[in-house]
Amino acid sequence: MEPTLNQVIAWAKAAGQIALDGLHTKHTIGYKSETDFVTEVDHACEKLLMDSIFGGFPDHSIIAEETGKVKGHADHCWHIDPLDGTINYSHKVPFFAISVAYQFQGKLQLGVVYDPSHDECFSAERGKGAWLNGEAIHVSDCPDLQHSLLVTGLPHNEPDLTVVSRRMEIFGRITNITQGVRRLGSAAIDMCYVACGRLDGYWEEKINSWDIAAGSLICKEAGAMVTDFQGNPDYFKPPYGLVASAPGIHEELLKNLS
Ligand code: IPD
Ligand code: CA
Ligand code: CA
Repeated sequence: MEPTLNQVIAWAKAAGQIALDGLHTKHTIGYKSETDFVTEVDHACEKLLMDSIFGGFPDHSIIAEETGKVKGHADHCWHIDPLDGTINYSHKVPFFAISVAYQFQGKLQLGVVYDPSHDECFSAERGKGAWLNGEAIHVSDCPDLQHSLLVTGLPHNEPDLTVVSRRMEIFGRITNITQGVRRLGSAAIDMCYVACGRLDGYWEEKINSWDIAAGSLICKEAGAMVTDFQGNPDYFKPPYGLVASAPGIHEELLKNLS
């Protein structure tokens, strides 16, 4: 038996309710590094999602942000980000999401990103399309960078200052030739906003499989071009950096990112 999109949507919404219920409570912060932390709500959401998956598919493998790799059948792999936008969440900024994706034989099949604060559920199924609360979504028809509004993610724990300067230089240069570059704090929602045409493109250099698995499938199924920084379509491999955009600006965006 294969998992269905409706099953994954139900699990993501249940986890989203946990996150919403916990938003205004006092959080227990666990530090993964000096600048990277996790709350008890990340763990609670992850537990619900993992229990749900193992409840139906006990032999599947899972890569979950807080638990790591749980070995199972190599053909069936889940990627879980229980709370994408933990820093927003811990500051009570209502911009965070639950992200779950299912991959079969190396290909992403199902993706769900649920933003509980706005009750927006983005989903996609390989070859069948992408939806926002059940309505089909499409990327924008933005023709050039000049008319585009973009979004990116910037790591805030980069030890090499020359890398930081290079990223800021690119951020500034692209800001100057577009309608702007947002930094919203949830890679999963960033990609879904590109998928539904609110934003025209997204890039992030160093990221993890759980951050981009669901969002990148949703983007692709909504008609976005999704590639690595060299323009190759096989972006889903370490270091997982990717560029996702409306087809009309992809080439120009890649050029300006190099
Ligand atoms: C982070 C967010 C952020 C992105 C970081 C991610 P987290 O995920 O998606 O927007 O820039 O790269 O790590 O830690 O909140 O799950
Ligand atoms: Ca994340
Ligand atoms: Ca997370």
